[in-house]
Amino acid sequence: MTHPMSQVYLNGQYLPPDQARVSVFDRGFIFGDGIYEVIPVFGGRLFRLAHHLSRLDASLAAIRLRNPHTAQEWNSIFTRLLEKDGKDDQSIYLQITRGVAPRDHAFPPNITPTVFAYAQPLKYSPPEQLAQGVAAVTTADIRWARCDIKAIALLANALLRQQAIDQGAVEAILVRDGVVTEGAASNIFVVKNGRLITAPKGSFILPGITRDLVVEIARAHGINCDELPVKLETLSSADEVWLTSSTKEILPITRIDDKPVGNGKPGPMHTRMFALYKDYKQAFIQGKAD
Ligand code: PDD
Repeated sequence: MTHPMSQVYLNGQYLPPDQARVSVFDRGFIFGDGIYEVIPVFGGRLFRLAHHLSRLDASLAAIRLRNPHTAQEWNSIFTRLLEKDGKDDQSIYLQITRGVAPRDHAFPPNITPTVFAYAQPLKYSPPEQLAQGVAAVTTADIRWARCDIKAIALLANALLRQQAIDQGAVEAILVRDGVVTEGAASNIFVVKNGRLITAPKGSFILPGITRDLVVEIARAHGINCDELPVKLETLSSADEVWLTSSTKEILPITRIDDKPVGNGKPGPMHTRMFALYKDYKQAFIQGKAD
């Protein structure tokens, strides 16, 4: 296998990817017992790092793991992983598992967590997806009841995303008890009569960093934005629907279950929000935003 990165971080060492080894008894491998983060890097700077590190703290606390590093240590690990000559935007993937121990569901005493991280070029959505929007399908949200934890156990998410792909769509919009929670790997926004609506935080969604930024930008620019349950009827009658994530940014969804959203084209609110988001990114690259 060839890798786009020259080195990865594993338990204190910086190694060529082919030399990084993890035990087959790692609880990440055996139980999916771990958490992760994905942090975009724009213009060589870690975007919204403080927000990602505070979500990391929340995920670690939720699975009863101690954070093995300070914010400053994380910053220097991530920075060392960035490809210095890479002009392209990048993303950091960080994974922390409970560590290596003989298989037993109960937590082993005195276990050392496994810490793995790497940087890779950020693959943006193709320009035509941004220009025309993408298709999504609605599916039952078959995941567990702690979706707020950024857990590495992503079997349900992978099944749901693949189901969307098999139906010619790019994302699955998950529905629990008649209410839209989020996407298989994104948060969902609906635009209705000039207002933004997105699911409230809680145990059924991941608190997306991009979601929070969109809410923040909307409020700073006088765009009404409600964090309220989005009923399936609201989704069906929406003027616009977007998905947000660190890697896909803000992408219009223009078809859901083979029916057009609004007039079937990305809408004016998306154009406005995406421009404001790009302004924010530009300010960030210039060191004027976090
Ligand atoms: N996923 N909801 C889920 C279930 C996600 O997996 C993600 C991101 C989001 C958006 O969060 P953020 O804006 O912080 O990226 C929401 C990442 C990108 C992934 O798994 O690759």
